[in-house]
Amino acid sequence: MNQSFEYSPAPESRAIVNLATSYGLFIDGKFAQGQDGAPFKTIDPATEEVLAEVWGAGPKDVNRAVTAARKAYNQTWRKTSGRERGKYLYRIARIIQERSRELAVLESLDNGKPIRESRDVDIPLVAAHFFYHAGWADKLDYVGLGSSPSAYGVAAQVIPWNFPLLMLAWKVAPALAAGNTVVLKPAETTPLSALWFAEICQQAELPNGVVNIITGDGATGAALVSHPDVDKVAFTGSTEVGRQIAISIAGTKKSLTLELGGKAANIVFDDAPIDQAVEGIVNGIFFNQGHVCCAGSRLLVQESIADAVIDSLKRRLSTLRLGDPLDKNTDIGAINSAPQLAKIVELAKSGELDGANKWQAPCQIPEKGYWFAPTVFTNVTQSHRIAREEIFGPVLSTLTFRTPSEAVEKANNTPFGLSAGIWTEKGSRILQIASQLKAGVIWANTFNRFDPASPFGGFKESGYGREGGRQGMLGYLRPRGK
Ligand code: NAI
Ligand code: MG
Repeated sequence: MNQSFEYSPAPESRAIVNLATSYGLFIDGKFAQGQDGAPFKTIDPATEEVLAEVWGAGPKDVNRAVTAARKAYNQTWRKTSGRERGKYLYRIARIIQERSRELAVLESLDNGKPIRESRDVDIPLVAAHFFYHAGWADKLDYVGLGSSPSAYGVAAQVIPWNFPLLMLAWKVAPALAAGNTVVLKPAETTPLSALWFAEICQQAELPNGVVNIITGDGATGAALVSHPDVDKVAFTGSTEVGRQIAISIAGTKKSLTLELGGKAANIVFDDAPIDQAVEGIVNGIFFNQGHVCCAGSRLLVQESIADAVIDSLKRRLSTLRLGDPLDKNTDIGAINSAPQLAKIVELAKSGELDGANKWQAPCQIPEKGYWFAPTVFTNVTQSHRIAREEIFGPVLSTLTFRTPSEAVEKANNTPFGLSAGIWTEKGSRILQIASQLKAGVIWANTFNRFDPASPFGGFKESGYGREGGRQGMLGYLRPRGK
């Protein structure tokens, strides 16, 4: 039976987003022209249209931003009570809710993700993170570091392009709740929502210099994290850059948290509800075009049900709609950038050369922009690059197993350890397998669920430190007087 329906286009209007032709840096509460560095352009990856010109901050700009954050910490923020800080966070959360439609459209334009996801997942979670951390601001005595723990001071935060505003919220909300001031650098392909956030800080009348946003590429990021007057560094991105940052700040007094890559196993046992598991597999690797550090990129399926699961998965993937991110019916949006697309293409090619079988969902690829059809590899072995390296795209590698211990061994056979999924009807099996998996987050009969109260982070090369929950607050505080 052909299950595909014809849909009329249902694009969300972009008129709600008012784009200027160029943007400066947000330092000390004001937008101002950069003083060194150079401008660069950010594009809509679905059309390759230039959205705006943004400033790539140079070392002098970085220094001005850190100086503003230091001054705000010493003169204002460290003297602001937890209760007052909580009010600012609460106000920011409310403004994000009020402007949620605008923020969702902006995020989809700059990033390429479907509006359905930016509207229903990203932006609601952004607001939830600010609401949640507003609650922590006056309860720091209960974080677990004794009474009246101290903030570090100035936090330097560098974030990636896959969830631009959400990663900002994960970083900024706990930092401010704990009493730190912030200099944040968004990724070079998705700088716009961070600049909108700067405007929201103005709207919330946050004191000047408490949040500073500097745009730029890796060089700006490197200058920021190595600035001598920074007390705390928080980074989310590739394992390679995380390693460089760890080396560059070794031997300094700076505190560091790293949230890096992953190669998560999504394990489906023969007693799992197959239809539900197939939905979970799709959500695990095709959500956000697979640009997700905790994506379920390795499907481990029990041999006896492998054919049934793969058949049903292919049928389901054939119904996904790829195209205009602003269309409300779109499931799969654009790949974020040309280099990321090239990386996905190269790794998928290696899968074929290594001897795995490639299947792609039938879909029409738009003429302009960066796209990759949902792809499933079967007949994958553990030595294939597509089973070992993070692809960060809509590509699933499928391996099979016979016994639970073989599943655990294969799941743990990776340098990463960020997340994992278990699908089975038996609660006892969930507990038994979960206790043996070396991953920071383990989902059972679901995948890619997030909540600000739940700590998130990895083992091994996936990084260290946690974000969210009480554990996330520990990354921005030290015991009093230490
Ligand atoms: P990246 O790690 O280079 O970029 C992440 C952020 O770090 C960006 O803001 C970037 O400007 C900044 N940055 C780059 N070099 C820096 C340096 N030396 N010092 C300080 N900051 C620096 O990631 P990229 O190149 O965008 O993606 C490459 C691969 O990394 C992806 O294909 C994916 O596999 C992985 N990745 C993983 C992410 C995750 O959430 N775990 C997020 C983004 C990428
Ligand atoms: Mg962009």
